[in-house]
Amino acid sequence: MAENEDKKNGIENVSGKVEETKKEDEYEKLCFICHRPESVAGKMIDLPNHISVCSDCMQRSFDAMNNGGFDYSQFMNMPGGMNMNFGDMENQIPKSQRVKKKKTEEEKEPVLNIRNIPAPHKIKAQLDEYVVGQEYAKKAMSVAVYNHYKRVATDTLDEIEIEKSNMLMIGPTGSGKTYLVKTLAKLLDVPLAITDATSLTEAGYIGDDIESVVSKLLAAADNDVDKAEQGIIFIDEIDKIAKKKNTSQRDVSGESVQQGMLKLLEGSEVEVPVGANSKNAMVPLTTINTKNILFICGGAFPDLELIIKERLNKQASMGFGADLKDKYDHDKAILEKVTIEDLRMFGMIPEFLGRLPIVFTLQGLDEDMLVKILKEPKNAILKQYQKLLALDEVKLEFDEGALHSIAKKAIKKDTGARALRAIIEEFMLDIMYEIPKDDNIGQVTITQAYIEGTGGPVIQLRGQEVPRIGQSGQ
Ligand SMILES: Nc1ncnc2c1ncn2[C@@H]1O[C@H](COP(=O)(O)OP(=O)(O)O)[C@@H](O)[C@H]1O
Ligand SMILES: [Mg+2]
Repeated sequence: MAENEDKKNGIENVSGKVEETKKEDEYEKLCFICHRPESVAGKMIDLPNHISVCSDCMQRSFDAMNNGGFDYSQFMNMPGGMNMNFGDMENQIPKSQRVKKKKTEEEKEPVLNIRNIPAPHKIKAQLDEYVVGQEYAKKAMSVAVYNHYKRVATDTLDEIEIEKSNMLMIGPTGSGKTYLVKTLAKLLDVPLAITDATSLTEAGYIGDDIESVVSKLLAAADNDVDKAEQGIIFIDEIDKIAKKKNTSQRDVSGESVQQGMLKLLEGSEVEVPVGANSKNAMVPLTTINTKNILFICGGAFPDLELIIKERLNKQASMGFGADLKDKYDHDKAILEKVTIEDLRMFGMIPEFLGRLPIVFTLQGLDEDMLVKILKEPKNAILKQYQKLLALDEVKLEFDEGALHSIAKKAIKKDTGARALRAIIEEFMLDIMYEIPKDDNIGQVTITQAYIEGTGGPVIQLRGQEVPRIGQSGQ
C-alpha cells in the first residue's frame, strides 16, 4: 500500500519539472550507500544533485557520527578543506546498474498490443524478406509466435490456459537458426538474449549459471523489467547439453543444465542482478517472471540422422511390409522425420522436451539457395557492397557464374551460409582498395574467372558504360 502511494507521489513530483528529470524519473531511485532500489528499501531521502539515501542508511550514518563523537557542525564549517562535491557523486552509480521503475497501471501499454500482433501469414511474409528458403521453419515459427503473444495479451482470461509456445529448432550449422530468431526479434521489436548452452553449468560450478540468461535479457531490454518479461531467449547449441552416456561423474554441464532449465522454460520468478552478470553484494537485484518469455532452443544435433534411420529401419523391417534395409540411406529429408523419441535417444530428457512443444527442422542450404542468399534478402551481402561502392558513384555487378562459383566454394567449407561472407570479403578487399583510387572507374563487374583466380574483374570507365552481352540488365 505504502509503496503505491510513494509511486503516486513520484509521479506528481515529476509533472512540472523539466524534460530531463522526467527521463531520469523512469529509473528507480537507488540508495547511494547500500544500492538497494526504492521499491525494496522504502522511501528515499533526497539530497542535492539527485542523490538518494534510504532511511536505514541515513539513520546508521547519524548513529555512527554520534557514537564517534564527530562534530558535524565543525565538519560543515571546514573552510574548503572537506569540500564534498555532490556533483561527482551523482555519477557513481552507473545507469546500467539501475532498474527502470515499473510503470503504473494507467500508463502501462503492452509492448505487443493484441491488435498489433500480425497474423501468422504476415509474420511469415516479413521473415521472407530476410530469410531464404526454410519455408516450413518460417511457417511453424510464425504460428508459434502469433500464439505466444496472443497468449501474453490475453493473460487475464486464464480459464483455458494456452500452453507456452517454446520452440526447438534443429538444423545444420549456418542454415539460419540464429538469423531467424534475430530477424524475428527485430521485427517484433522485443528484446532478445542469445546464449550458448555450452557456457551454462549447474549453479555453483564454474561457468555461467542458468539464470544468467535472464539477466542478459534484462540488459537487452535496457533494464526495463516489463519489456524483458515479454522478450525472447535463444539458447544455441542445445544439443551440447545432451545427457552424457556412460559417465560416472556428476554431469554438471549436461543433464543438470537441462534439469535446471525446466523451471525457467515453464515460467518462474527469478532474482537477477541488474547491470552485471553475477550476483554480489554491490549489485542491486530485481525479480523477473519468465512466464511470458519465449524460449527458443537451437542445435545442429549431429548424428541425429543415424538415430532416426535406425528407428525407421527397425519399423520397416517388421511385419509383412518389410522394406529394403538401405531405403533411408539417401533420404535427404530424413531429419524432418524426427520424433520426440529420437531426441530422447540423443540424450535430451523427457521433461525438457515436454517444455518445448514446437519442434521443427531447417534444411541444409544447397547451391541455388546460397546464390539467393547472396543477392535476394533485404540486407543481402551483395546489396551491402553495391551500396558501399555507390557512395563512390561506382556501379558493382556480379555475373551469375560468379555467384554460383562463390556458392560452390561455400559448400566445400561445410559451414552453410556462414562461409559466404568470408569468401566474398577475401576477393572484395582488392576491389574495395583499388577502385576508389581511380576516379574514372564507373562500373566493376565481378566475373566467374575472377572468383576462380583465372582472370580479373571487368572494369568500365565513366562515359562508356555499355552493357556487355550476357550481363544482367540492372
Ligand atoms: N536461410 C537463410 N537466409 C538468409 N541468410 C541466411 C540463411 N541462413 C544463413 N544465413 C546467413 O548466414 C549467417 C549465419 O547463419 P546463422 O543463422 O548464424 O546459422 P546457424 O544456423 O548456425 O545459427 C546469417 O547471419 C545470415 O546472414
Ligand atoms: Mg547459430
